[in-house]
Amino acid sequence: NLDQALQEISAAPSLEALHTLKVQYLGKNGLVTQEMKTLGKLSPEERKEKGRALNEIKEKLTAALAAREAAIKEQSLQEQLEREALDVSLPGYAFPSGGLHLISQIQKELLDIFRTMGHSVVEGPEVESEFFNFDGVNMPEWHPARDMQDTFWLQPPEGFTIQGPFGESVNDLGSALLRTHTSPMQVRYMVQHTPPFKIVVPGRVFRYEQTDASHEAMFFQLEGLVVGEGITMADLKGAITELARGLFGAEGRVRFQPTFFPFVEPGAQFAMWWPERQKWLELGGAGMVHPNVFKAVDDYREKLGLPRAYEGVSGWAFGFGLERLALLRYGIPDIRYFYQQNRLSFLRQFRN
Ligand code: PHE
Repeated sequence: NLDQALQEISAAPSLEALHTLKVQYLGKNGLVTQEMKTLGKLSPEERKEKGRALNEIKEKLTAALAAREAAIKEQSLQEQLEREALDVSLPGYAFPSGGLHLISQIQKELLDIFRTMGHSVVEGPEVESEFFNFDGVNMPEWHPARDMQDTFWLQPPEGFTIQGPFGESVNDLGSALLRTHTSPMQVRYMVQHTPPFKIVVPGRVFRYEQTDASHEAMFFQLEGLVVGEGITMADLKGAITELARGLFGAEGRVRFQPTFFPFVEPGAQFAMWWPERQKWLELGGAGMVHPNVFKAVDDYREKLGLPRAYEGVSGWAFGFGLERLALLRYGIPDIRYFYQQNRLSFLRQFRN
């Protein structure tokens, strides 16, 4: 009966169930179709009567089927939308991002100041030969100044060679060590280039040292070297003053005091005036390149078949530690915070 059929249709749970019902009623062998086939045996009166009734039933069933199909599709669409819904108001995930270590930031700041003055930035190896680190910068083995820089000596594996400025093997030039300063790059650079030039050399250096609040076995230096005709101590003071102004603004000033480094003559230690705190920051060493350094460079060049290039020129050099600058400038109490502890909570204070 029709009511029952309509009820079944409107309760069909899926498109497949609906299709089964459609076949059952309206299919080739469906109930309605079979009834239609009996019409031929009826009298014209009855046929007209029953025909109209059957058509009505067929239309109702068809309409009901279509309605249910639409409803089922609508429902599954709704379900899909719900399933795939995005709550755009949910707070996002935090993607932690890295930042530059304070010392990297300071290094960058310093390099930018020197680039402005026309210096090229060059780097050298941390594993050095005794020659470039000591002998070449006028610190022969017997020189008492070697005691100033306690050294990590290395015992390289069989077949290891230290390369010179042109990639040549320099195994005949003393023991291997971790460079104690960036000054060996003075020698390497001068061997490879002819004056005039201006360079700065940032890099890691190592000292065999008991660590405490102001000493680390590893730290960073910045080395400066300018060589050419007629270069004087005044040029050095000018450059360091420019550095002070770059770091501390227009009121930045420098102070030079005589001191001794084997690779400069005259030699000085320099301090910078920190206007904000009204005090001097003792920063590093500097001076005019010692003739023995130029001589060692030219001898090395000659050994490689290159012409001597450092007779009749002069130059200045400086070197200082980046950590010291950072400690003073930011009031950091202990150098070990930088690398031994290296805590994010410490480093994050200096993110920019
Ligand atoms: N190399 C010296 C040091 O590490 C610093 C320095 C460099 C001094 C250049 C004078 C000139 O102590």
